[in-house]
Amino acid sequence: MPEASDQLSKVNPKATMQSSIASILRSQEANGAFVASRDFAEYRYCWLRDSSFIAYALDRAGEQDASARYHGWVNHALDGIGGLIDRAIEWHREGKPLHPDHMPPARFALDGSSVDDDWPNFQIDGYGTWLWALGQHLLSTGQEAVPEEFRASVERVGRYLDAFALTPCFDVWEESGSALHTSTLACVYGGLTAAARLLDDKDLLARAESVQSRVRESAIRLGRYVKSTESDDVDASVLWLSTPFDVVEADDSHFAETVRTIEERLGFEGGLRRYPTDVYFGSGAWTVLTASLGWHYLVVGDPGAAELCRGWVAAHFDDQGRLGEQFGGERRDPAHYREWLERWGHPAKDLTWSHAMYVVLCSGLDGLDTSAKREVTWSDDGQGERWADSRRATPPKAS
Ligand code: BGC
Repeated sequence: MPEASDQLSKVNPKATMQSSIASILRSQEANGAFVASRDFAEYRYCWLRDSSFIAYALDRAGEQDASARYHGWVNHALDGIGGLIDRAIEWHREGKPLHPDHMPPARFALDGSSVDDDWPNFQIDGYGTWLWALGQHLLSTGQEAVPEEFRASVERVGRYLDAFALTPCFDVWEESGSALHTSTLACVYGGLTAAARLLDDKDLLARAESVQSRVRESAIRLGRYVKSTESDDVDASVLWLSTPFDVVEADDSHFAETVRTIEERLGFEGGLRRYPTDVYFGSGAWTVLTASLGWHYLVVGDPGAAELCRGWVAAHFDDQGRLGEQFGGERRDPAHYREWLERWGHPAKDLTWSHAMYVVLCSGLDGLDTSAKREVTWSDDGQGERWADSRRATPPKAS
């Protein structure tokens, strides 16, 4: 998808990767929380979604201590909303109506407390991504079992995902609260398989498989994966179905068709937009998504295409080393760009998640991934079936 360019020749990818790691570390509070963006007032919070990808990037870059501080912060934040999660699960089981405003939050204040405002809170993807990232962190630090201090949180979030996996909620762009979203299901699957492995829990694995079947069936009608149960559009976040969450194989024919459609409909000035009808800040190309596409190319063995994605991202650092959320919306759709500018000011000029996805892509391209590379196996060695650990794995079938 990216056009050939000499963008990379203008920057030194190793230097920019190091500068991105430094930016990420600067955006971490002493307690472990990551600020989504310090320069954009609306983003001065810690999102589970952004931050769990950020922690994963740090693990890949050898910054496991910083990643551990984040996971400790989540553990503490989850303690604070334990009652809320438990009540949501209980009410759901009893068939009581649940208002999205009263669901566990998508983002927290930096001290880990909940924010009482009208943000579309009910977004389960972040909880899945957190469990996935914790699983990756434990693997990368050689911890075979879930540490005792994390057990209650892993169990609770596992139960939460189990209960709400197939309930409509807001998507990864915090929109469309009445649909099931394919990329949300990918994150949920990643979280459920991680929890199943960490807790040795076959029921969670079976639930993950039901999510996986649901996703796979959804591709049959159009021969590709769609944005949601309410939209046959494409959405670039659907790339995560394969990398990193392994819901489908990268060479699955429906997934290959999805990637082709994403490239065709969402490519803009060498980067990737979120989805065709997006209007947020005029819908420019997003750093996080262009890096995600590069990551996918790398996994399918096309480092040349991945390098072009890196080139596009690298060319968007400003002279202070900042890396924004999106670029070009003011040219693509000036009216909507202005509308958002008047509402919230200039789009985030330095987004921590953007740096993180750049680090993930660079670490893959440069063979610098320092996290563990063991394979997962589900085996019966005569003493009962068990998980062996791994960094990336396709989980076996629950029997
Ligand atoms: C995006 C979310 C993101 C948040 C903070 C929103 O505009 O849609 O995906 O978590 O910004 O970066």
